[in-house]
Amino acid sequence: MTHKNTVIVTGGNGFIGTNLVRLLIDSRQYRVVNLDALTYAANPLSLADLEGHRDYEFVKGSITDRQLVDSLFQKYKPRGVLHLAAESHVDRSILSAADFVETNVVGTYTMLEAARSYWNTLPAELKKEFRFLHVSTDEVFGSLGEEGYFSEETPYAPQNPYSASKAASDHFVRAFHHTYGLPTIITNCSNNYGPYQFPEKMIPLMILNALSGKPLPVYGDGSNVRDWIYVEDHCKAVRLVFERGKPGEVYAVGAGNEQKNINLVGQICRILDDIAPPVEAPQLREQGLKSYSELIRFVEDRLGHDQRYAIDASKVKRELGWQPAVGFEAGLRQTIEWYLSNPKWVDQASGGSYAEWIEKNYAWRANKESK
Ligand code: NAD
Ligand code: TYD
Repeated sequence: MTHKNTVIVTGGNGFIGTNLVRLLIDSRQYRVVNLDALTYAANPLSLADLEGHRDYEFVKGSITDRQLVDSLFQKYKPRGVLHLAAESHVDRSILSAADFVETNVVGTYTMLEAARSYWNTLPAELKKEFRFLHVSTDEVFGSLGEEGYFSEETPYAPQNPYSASKAASDHFVRAFHHTYGLPTIITNCSNNYGPYQFPEKMIPLMILNALSGKPLPVYGDGSNVRDWIYVEDHCKAVRLVFERGKPGEVYAVGAGNEQKNINLVGQICRILDDIAPPVEAPQLREQGLKSYSELIRFVEDRLGHDQRYAIDASKVKRELGWQPAVGFEAGLRQTIEWYLSNPKWVDQASGGSYAEWIEKNYAWRANKESK
């Protein structure tokens, strides 16, 4: 394999990164260098089976380490970067945004500077082919009312510290294209769900809490809407944009699947009732549950909770021929089955520092009912 197909993926051990690395390796068209700091959000088990694979190289380190990043460009001479590394959880950013500024803003800036100095040394042909793909979120656009959709034309209006840090990183990416001509592309995608998602995020949190008979904490009145996409569909869009997207462009990615939080939690409970009925679970016997929905609790709302996200993905469909392939009910079932089938991964992710963190910071979710 030539250097042409070598790519640096940042944050490859995270949720989307793991799914993307697998997609790229399985295609047999890429050699992946995964740069990941292995923060709390990374699970060493996620890509353990790829160790020693001839098309996979893992480098533990931070995207804020300019020397390290420079050395990777020199060593591997990639044809591009798929930049995913980030602090990604809104609730944590509300408690403290310091790590978000450091990784999402300073880290992205560091990646851009290192990419630019490497790119400047490339011969014309390779310079033209090089891509810096920045994987971002629809949260940079703020919040919608009952009507309308986010698209590539929506003005930036981030409203929480996480989305503010992602918006800042998007602006640097744009600026590096406009100012230096670096061939950057941005994707702004809606909420992902699927295998390997860290259990602090809504869908795995509800699945795992239900299975252990813990309360299912729905923020506020549960009327907030998110537009859910199966992670593999997002990864396919990322790959397509990397291969065929136009430098300087932005692509909004979403599967047209809006769900009110309370309805989504109800749906998770119904699927769980079907495939892992609480009456048959020895660990739940004492609670005498007939349905997991009995565990639903409305709790204090998230500060500054964005009301609704929804994506108009017509550009990526029209220009690049992307289409989501996984329907929501099927994707949710697959996801639930994955969590049921991977207890070791779940134990690793749910224990240690995460368990302590939940204990310390989230006591209110179980206790303070708002309704
Ligand atoms: P995640 O939190 O699951 O994973 C983040 C990964 O980045 C982890 O492996 C972590 O170890 C790594 N990381 C963090 N700081 C680092 C640093 N300084 N240096 C190197 N690695 C570091 O996140 P995710 O949900 O997989 O999201 C990946 C990207 O996609 C993020 O940029 C996020 O903003 C974006 N995104 C996520 C969603 C979503 O629904 N999850 C939607 C749209 C966009
Ligand atoms: P989350 O997975 O944190 O994603 P994001 O905030 O990036 O959209 O949350 C998804 C939605 O679920 C969001 O509206 C907040 C809500 N939520 C709850 O109601 N309870 C929870 O325990 C969590 C983690 C989220």
